[in-house]
Formats: sequence, structure tokens, C-alpha cells
Amino acid sequence: MADVSISKLKRLRGELTVPGDKSISHRAAIIAAVSEGISVIKNYSTAIDCQTTLNCLRRLGADIRRSGRDIVVNGRGLRTLCEPDDVLNCGNSGTTMRLLCGLLAGQSFATVLTGDASLRWRPMDRVIKPLNMNGADIHGCRNNRFAPLYVKGGSLTDIAYHLPVASAQVKSAMLLAGLYANGKVEIVEPVASRDHTERMLEWCGVDIGRSGNVISLGQKRQPVARQLQVPGDISSAAFLIALGLLVPDSRLVLKDVGINPTRTGILKVLKDMGANVTVENKRTVANEPVGDLHVSSSALKGVEIGGTLIPRVIDELPLIAVIATRAIGRTVVKDAGELRVKESDRISAIVTELKKMGAAIEETADGFIVEGSTLLHGTNCDSHNDHRIAMALSVAGWIAEGETTIDNAECVDISFPEFYKLVKIALSVL
Ligand code: S3P
Repeated sequence: MADVSISKLKRLRGELTVPGDKSISHRAAIIAAVSEGISVIKNYSTAIDCQTTLNCLRRLGADIRRSGRDIVVNGRGLRTLCEPDDVLNCGNSGTTMRLLCGLLAGQSFATVLTGDASLRWRPMDRVIKPLNMNGADIHGCRNNRFAPLYVKGGSLTDIAYHLPVASAQVKSAMLLAGLYANGKVEIVEPVASRDHTERMLEWCGVDIGRSGNVISLGQKRQPVARQLQVPGDISSAAFLIALGLLVPDSRLVLKDVGINPTRTGILKVLKDMGANVTVENKRTVANEPVGDLHVSSSALKGVEIGGTLIPRVIDELPLIAVIATRAIGRTVVKDAGELRVKESDRISAIVTELKKMGAAIEETADGFIVEGSTLLHGTNCDSHNDHRIAMALSVAGWIAEGETTIDNAECVDISFPEFYKLVKIALSVL
């Protein structure tokens, strides 16, 4: 599948299960690799990015076996990784590269990290600077800002950092480095970002505390292996939720989805837009909230999105641009400049492609403005080699008149390889 061809969908019905959460899977594998004991991680993400993390950890000597949706990691403790015999290729995955920078900063050996063209273009100074300020020795290319990175591990003492921009990847890198520090560890974030690392460290017995926006590590820093069931990925579910709302006469249930409040900005935005989305069967699994999402076709209205909500919905904003084309009135997204340094410049990518489909959308410095409701028309679109842009444009194609083709749509495998298959299943339910 290089390019996909998409046309208007009839109704969608059924009960679907999305694969394991990508953010949680990365963390589960990394923490298990340096835990004491055997971790069984069930429902590990099928995303290419998460396989990339496993490949890197194996090169560092971690003992990881994969059996279908589960992985088994035989951890031997914080100080048991070894120097890799080659560079670590983080592919397209910013989470892999940034989290590994933190983990590797505390090792007794040196590592080189690289990635694909997109990842080598993304800012790495946001982890290099704070880690180096706290005793690490990391060198980047082009003025110390980009990968390839040379990480010379060393001994770390205190770690103190006040993040200038909300980033769960930076926060997590600092916390992973903190596991190796023998002094005080205190991280402050300006706005709450996804807290999966904190929850998982706590689940594995690490002494971690949170008070307001301050996260600190106490005495006990050696994680202990625990069983873990990864919840379904709400960022993947979001595309199916959008279809359930926008395709007429649809009703979908998405089972066992992670509903961590630091990730559910999409549900808040959709409720504000007037969507029929409810969360049922709420429970907690391995320190993460989980529930079933019930969605049905809805008439929507425009909303304003900005401020502290942005980190909770950051990965869903390109999709929200598509949804907003079908909402009555104006939708404004602001304070989302971070979108410009994702796998692509997602503001420019989604605005360019939706304009081709007839949307009334304008780019701003830190977001976009959509006037709705407009009927989209099919055309030839570019995924910009970005999985979330490819899936957002697929949703646009499925509600548009005529045929849409999406170039390089295979990039959806980076986060959600089952995407097209699940839509087909929902289409075939009578
Ligand atoms: C992620 C954090 C977010 C998000 C990314 C995954 C994570 O990035 O956009 O898709 O797993 O920590 P930032 O940390 O750059 O905000």
C-alpha cells in the first residue's frame, strides 16, 4: 500500500478494539528493560515506533521476547545495559530518541542515536540542554541541536529542571535520567502533559511524588517488574470516533481505551462541539484509567481551543481541523506552535491539504482557523509522510464527495497499522 484511494462511507457500526497505547508501550518497554525481574507487558502497541524502541533496547543488551500482542522482558536492574556495537536507529520516533537520551545519560558507556529524515530535522536541543545542564555529556549536530546524537553516559548527581514548554518527552527523559542520579531530582512543568512515565514508575515501586506541577524522585529509584496491560490508544481511537460522528447513521463502541485525563482533551473538545460521545465502564488498569467509548453521528458546532488544553489534545489537532470543516461556525486552534515540530509541520501540512479539498481553513503562527460547515471534495492529497496527517486526510476523504487519493499512506503503520482494516470491519457490520 503506497497510495490509498478513498471514497464516501455509508454508515459505520460495531464494537471495535484499538491496539495498545503507543506512549504507554514505549515507557513500559524502557522501564521494564531496567527493572528487576520479569515483566509481562500485554497488548503492547503494534506501531512501528514501538517496535523501534524494542530494537534499540535489544541493541543495548535488553532481553525482550515478543509473542503476538505481548512482550516479555527479563530485566536485571538499572546498571545492566551494555554499549551497543552500532548506532541506535530511532526511525521516525521522537519518543524513542528523547526518552533514550535520558536513559543513556546515566550509563557507563557511549551511544550514538540517529533517525530518519523527519527525526533528524526535529529539535533535540530540548533534551540535550537540560540533560547537559544536569551533568550529562550529549553532543548533537548542527550547533548541538539535531540528531545524530552522541550520548556519553556518566555519573549524575542532582537533577533540577523547569521545563519552558510542556513536553512529556522532555519530562520523561529527565525522570529516566533521574533514576541514575544519586542526588535530588525535581522537575517542574509549566502545564500538565501526559503523565504515563510518572504513573508507570509508581506502578513499578519507584518513589515518585507530585505536588502541583512539581515532580520529584525519592530514595527508591530501582523499578521492580510488574504485570501490565496496555490500554487502547485514545490517539488512534480518535480517528474512529471522528468517523462515528461524521458518517451519517453511525454507532460505534470502542472498547478498553485509555482515558488518562492528560490525554482526553479530544473528548472535551468533541463534547464542547456537541458530539454524542460517552465514556462507560470506567476502571483503572495498572495505574491507568480505562473505559469504553460510545459514539454516534452528531451535528457539531465550532469551538475555540487553546491554553492548558493544548498538551491534552496535541496529537489530535490535525484531526480536529477535519472535524471542524463539518461543524457549523468558526473553530479556532491557538497556542499550538508545537505542532510545527512534530513528524511534519502539522499546521502547514493539514491546512495545505484540506484547502485542496475545498475547506475554508487558514494557517496562523500557532494554529489554524476553520469556517464551517463546508462540503469537502475528493482530490489527490499528500500525507507529508506523517501518520497522523495520513489518517486525518483519510477521514476527510471518507466524508468528502468524490474520490480522494493519499500519497504514501503506508506511514499510518508508524502508529496504527490496523487503521484501514478496522474501518472496513465497521463498514461491514449490518
Ligand atoms: C509523546 C509526547 C508528545 C506527543 C507525542 C508522544 C510521548 O510530544 O506529541 O506524540 O509519548 O511522550 P511532546 O513531548 O513533544 O509534547
